[in-house]
Order: sequence, then C-alpha cells, then structure tokens
Amino acid sequence: MPKLTVEGFGTVDVEDGKRLVLAIEQDAKVDVLHACGGNARCTTCRVEFIEGEPPQMTIAERQVRAAKGVTSARLSCQIVCDHDMTVRAISRLEGSGRPDPGPPPAAEITPPPLWS
Ligand code: FES
Repeated sequence: MPKLTVEGFGTVDVEDGKRLVLAIEQDAKVDVLHACGGNARCTTCRVEFIEGEPPQMTIAERQVRAAKGVTSARLSCQIVCDHDMTVRAISRLEGSGRPDPGPPPAAEITPPPLWS
C-alpha cells in the first residue's frame, strides 16, 4: 500500500492506484482544489513533489501545463498513487476565495490517459 505524505499534514496509507487528487482530499484530508473536476483543464489541482515524482505524464497533463505555463508543479488529477510520494499542497480551497473545491473527480483518470 503506497504511502502519501502531504507536507504539514502527515502521512497516510493509500489504496494502490488511487488518483492522487482523491488521495489528497479523502485520505490526507487536505482541501486541494479540482475546479475542472479532474479533467486536466484547470491546473488548480497542482502540487509540488518533494519525493517520488512519477517520471511518466499523461499527454493531457503535458498539454495543459504547457498552455498555462506551469513548469515544475504536477497535476494531481493526472497521477495515480502506485508508489510512496511526498507532496506540497500549493493550491487549496483555503485562501482561494472559491466557494468549493470543484466538481468531484471520477475514480479513474479522466480523460482516459494516454502516456508520454
Ligand atoms: S487540471 Fe483541473 S482538476 Fe486537475
């Protein structure tokens, strides 16, 4: 079972293969944003990796990061927890001025992932 550490919030066990955005929200109990519902369109689910950054990236993540000028942060909606990770939650509901974190992301990566 992979371990997820969110800096400042502690470490939790996560179901193998769970979407990182959902693990941060449901398991680590951190108010990560997901304004587009986990569809690689908004970049509000972005996190900074401290350890365990996955080398692979969905094409959707690559494209939206380039379009929005996101250079080092990764999109937690486009990553699954299949190994231990430590992240910094840099885009949270708290302080965002938004009324809610966004529509709930589906259990599986959306759009269906193509990897690059
Ligand atoms: S890009 Fe919108 S939730 Fe991930």
